Order: sequence, then C-alpha cells, then structure tokens
Amino acid sequence: MQLECWQPLMNNITLPHSHFLPNRFQALRVLQEKIDSEQWDKQWERTSDKASVFVSASKLPWDSEQLGIGCGWLDCVLAHGSFPERKNYLTEICSEVIGWCKEQGINFLATKIDSDQIMALHALEDLGMRIVDCELTWALDKRMQTWGVKKIKLDDRVEIELNNNFEVGEVDQLGEAFNTDRFHVDDKIDNVRANSLWTNSLLNACRERADQVVIARCEGKVIGIVTCFIDIEASRYLETPVCDLAHVVVIPEWHSRGIGRSMLGHAINWAQRQVRFIQIGTQVRNYAANALYGKMGFRLAKSQYSLHAHWD
Ligand SMILES: CC(C)(COP(=O)(O)OP(=O)(O)OC[C@H]1O[C@@H](n2cnc3c(N)ncnc32)[C@H](O)[C@@H]1OP(=O)(O)O)[C@@H](O)C(=O)NCCC(=O)NCCS
Repeated sequence: MQLECWQPLMNNITLPHSHFLPNRFQALRVLQEKIDSEQWDKQWERTSDKASVFVSASKLPWDSEQLGIGCGWLDCVLAHGSFPERKNYLTEICSEVIGWCKEQGINFLATKIDSDQIMALHALEDLGMRIVDCELTWALDKRMQTWGVKKIKLDDRVEIELNNNFEVGEVDQLGEAFNTDRFHVDDKIDNVRANSLWTNSLLNACRERADQVVIARCEGKVIGIVTCFIDIEASRYLETPVCDLAHVVVIPEWHSRGIGRSMLGHAINWAQRQVRFIQIGTQVRNYAANALYGKMGFRLAKSQYSLHAHWD
C-alpha cells in the first residue's frame, strides 16, 4: 500500500508531532514504515479503485493490569477515496475490530483523534465509541520563543531541584492529584483504579522511565513534581528529538504560590539544552494548567478528542 496520497484521518501515533512540521511528508514516511513492518497487534485494510481504508489496533497490557479490565487502543485510521465506499469499508472493518477485541479479551477500547477530523469522529461514534474528553497539546519552539523567565519570589522554605536519585516513596501521594483525566471522567472506570494508574505511572517515571525529574520540596517534603521525557524517535523526521513534559503536579495546599511556574522553568531550561521542541498536554477543562502553559510561552498546537467504548 502506498501512503503518499492518503489522507490521515486520525490519531496521535500516526503523525506524531505533526504540529511542528512544515509539511507532513517525513511523518508520512515514518508511518509508511510502521505499516509495512506491521507494527501493531492487528491491522485491517480494504482497497479498491474507488477507496482505501487502513485501521490498526493494539492491546495495552499495562493499562489492563492497572484498570482491571482488558484495554485496547485504536492506533490508526486512514482513509481516502470516494466517501460512500470509504464509509462502507470503515463500517465493515470496525465490526471486525470489535470481533478481534472480544477474541483478545479487550472490553475497553480507546483512541484519540484530531478534533478537525469530523468524519473519523462520526465513523467511530457509529462504532459505539463516545467522546469522554478533549485534550490540548501545547508546544514550545526554542527558536520562536519570546518568553523570558518571570522572576517569582518563592516561599523561603521551598527548594526546586533536578533530581533523579530520590526515594520514590516520597512522591507516591502526588499521583492522586491527577483527577481531570479521561479515566476519571469515564463512569465505567473505577476511580480508585484510575488513581492508582496515575500513582504507578508517576512512580514508573521516577524509577526509570523519565530522563529528568524536577522536584519541589518544602523542608524536605516533596510538594511538586515535573517529569521530562526525551522522545528520540521524533528526530527521524524533525531535526532534533522532542521533549515531552508530563506529570506536572503541585499538592493542593501549595497551589497558586508559584511552584508550578518555577518547576516548569527548571524543566524548560533543562530540556532546551538538548532539544529545540518541547510539548506538554492537558485536558481542555484544566484551566489552571492551560493558563500556566500559556504563561510559560507555550503555544496551542493541537486539540484531540478522546473516545472510549466499553462492552461486556
Ligand atoms: C496546574 C498546577 C500544576 C499549577 O501549579 P501552581 O503551583 O498552582 O501554579 P502557579 O502558582 O505557579 O501559577 C502559575 C500560573 O498558572 C496559572 N494558574 C495557576 N492556578 C490557576 C488557577 N487555579 N486558575 C487559573 N489560572 C491558574 C496562573 O496564570 C498563574 O500565573 P499568575 O501567578 O501570574 O496568575 C496545579 O494546579 C496542579 O497541580 N493541578 C493538579 C494537577 C494537574 O492537573 N496537572 C496538570 C496535568 S497535565
């Protein structure tokens, strides 16, 4: 299958970082390689002289373990050609996707799609998926940056440090502060499970996954954290890797006292010594986080709907 003429309909894996790209050609090349090497657990394809559709899906073992339900991810939906044929193919494939999910023990399927891809949205709603959330991605390009660090006076007892060698037990209470995500708003997902997913995600990041962790302490106690991940794969189609900032959190007693801004400033300084692009995401309704990212010089780069489907 040749991808050049395809209109990518959706997703965050298909064209990662496409908001940084002047054109999508390089990202399409990477996607083509993924399709050719059948990188997903399962992929479906229909092609005729009128239309082509490609769909792929994967199991999510870690999420399944955390949430106690079989989790799957719709990686990729691509389509081009005549609208009625495209739609028929999508409908056909979608019922096969559900059949495959059931065989694999998946009873919770999720995906994200760019919010301007209305046709894909409708196709997935026809499949039984529903919108649970809208996420915003913010991007900072070192070369375009007009931002300068606003000096803030922190409480004298507060220290911000770059630290990859701390007791992870010190941060396990921070995971519970994430409660605006797509898992917490889905009434089919147990909130206790969703809390523990975030706690474990944060602990894994601190133990080994993150390339850098920024910590805020007051008299030794951890009161805030930011984790930084360098995405090397992005350098296959951008000139440098991209740094993803994640797990941005300050404990509620310390909100609105400049800790979030100060930790992000440290994270950005660290990241910009190695990469040109930094990105960070949050839910559209997370006013505090969105205001903070805007104030730090990030520009809105992308918005995506999160869709979920559950079946017994
Ligand atoms: C988002 C969060 C990290 C902000 O941390 P914070 O230490 O309270 O933020 P700061 O005091 O440094 O505020 C910096 C800027 O953010 C914005 N901001 C912070 N809290 C805000 C709020 N409740 N409402 C609106 N804007 C807010 C303001 O623009 C502020 O700038 P200003 O001081 O010039 O007005 C904190 O609210 C938090 O931990 N939330 C829960 C976890 C979370 O949702 N994290 C984001 C996940 S991606």
